[in-house]
Amino acid sequence: MNERRAREIILSARPKGRPKPSDFRLQETAIPTPSAGQILLRVEYLSLDPYMRGRMDDRKSYAQPVPLNGVMEGESVAEVIASRHPAYSEGDIVLARTGWRTHAVSDRSDLRKLDPAVAPVTTGLGVLGMPGFTAYAGLRVIGKPKPGETVVVAAASGPVGSLVGQLAKIDGAKAVGIAGGPEKCAYVKDELGFDAAINHRDSDFAAKLAAACPNGIDVYFENVGGAIWQAVLPLLNKFARVPVCGLIAQYNGVGKGDGIDRLPFTMREILSKSLTIRGFINYEFAAEHYAAFLREVGAGIADGCIRYREDIVDGLENAPEAFMGMLEGRNFGKLIVRVAG
Ligand SMILES: NC(=O)c1ccc[n+]([C@@H]2O[C@H](COP(=O)([O-])OP(=O)(O)OC[C@H]3O[C@@H](n4cnc5c(N)ncnc54)[C@H](OP(=O)(O)O)[C@@H]3O)[C@@H](O)[C@H]2O)c1
Repeated sequence: MNERRAREIILSARPKGRPKPSDFRLQETAIPTPSAGQILLRVEYLSLDPYMRGRMDDRKSYAQPVPLNGVMEGESVAEVIASRHPAYSEGDIVLARTGWRTHAVSDRSDLRKLDPAVAPVTTGLGVLGMPGFTAYAGLRVIGKPKPGETVVVAAASGPVGSLVGQLAKIDGAKAVGIAGGPEKCAYVKDELGFDAAINHRDSDFAAKLAAACPNGIDVYFENVGGAIWQAVLPLLNKFARVPVCGLIAQYNGVGKGDGIDRLPFTMREILSKSLTIRGFINYEFAAEHYAAFLREVGAGIADGCIRYREDIVDGLENAPEAFMGMLEGRNFGKLIVRVAG
């Protein structure tokens, strides 16, 4: 690697359906020079997250798309390697929205500093960062599980789903995870302590899910959509709550489907069971709940009662492949790219 040049990953084409390697381009550029009031950051770890698929499309959403030939967006753990800003010193480790690149300048004064003595800095991208907070806010503010209730979550081995189930257990509920494959299911049940884990790739998945939820489902934390939602909907109890967090099964498009219009059944279930179905974006809850999240989940990480798993890939050049794999379930844990060795 040429240390004297910066590298970045560019969105070179808007994907049609699944992203492919030619939708990305690696390019070299000069390392930027910080002006007065700025810091120069060297990215150590880059977070890869499902929402980035949405930013690749030129479509109205809750956030602006990445411009064509722009640098892919993303959050990272970065080291301050030069500072002309009074709030930061060389050597500080911060969370910053640098994008998929090795170096970036920032003039922000609100970057969160990470202390490696408190927790491994990578947790700032996962269990103690945006995905962890998403789990916390969606479950506690919308899901509100009560002792003895049943909480179901899919993508259960990932950073959002794994914390949803562990918090549900802390709240006295039964946690049922849905994950892709026996290895992920074993991790969810045996290491994270969920009561049950069901493989959504099994041909009798819907029957197994029903058997794991004999008292129905009181909270379904929606991460996926598609076939999993179809299996969950008939199992929802009266007054069930559904925080709609993500629909990853649809991010590459929905295809033609089987031609059945499920909306009438869905609406009848919503009405007859008095369901609460509420979409949310994590930052909507940050002002009110972020400090409590950091306190509670930080303490859980420190004393080992909350567990997490990271899937770390080496090299910025491997980010596109890792990202494409995540959209097909090939990651196992919070997906992170180690950018600087
Ligand atoms: N609303 C918000 O503010 C917010 C914030 C963060 C994340 N999210 C959403 O939360 C969800 C989970 O995010 P995460 O960061 O924790 O991701 P993650 O679990 O690390 O990765 C995505 C996982 O989704 C599953 N998946 C992918 N394609 C699928 C498909 N077609 N059908 C079923 N499962 C599929 C795979 O797990 P399996 O192999 O186990 O199926 C994959 O490993 C995503 O939908 C994301 O967009 C929302």
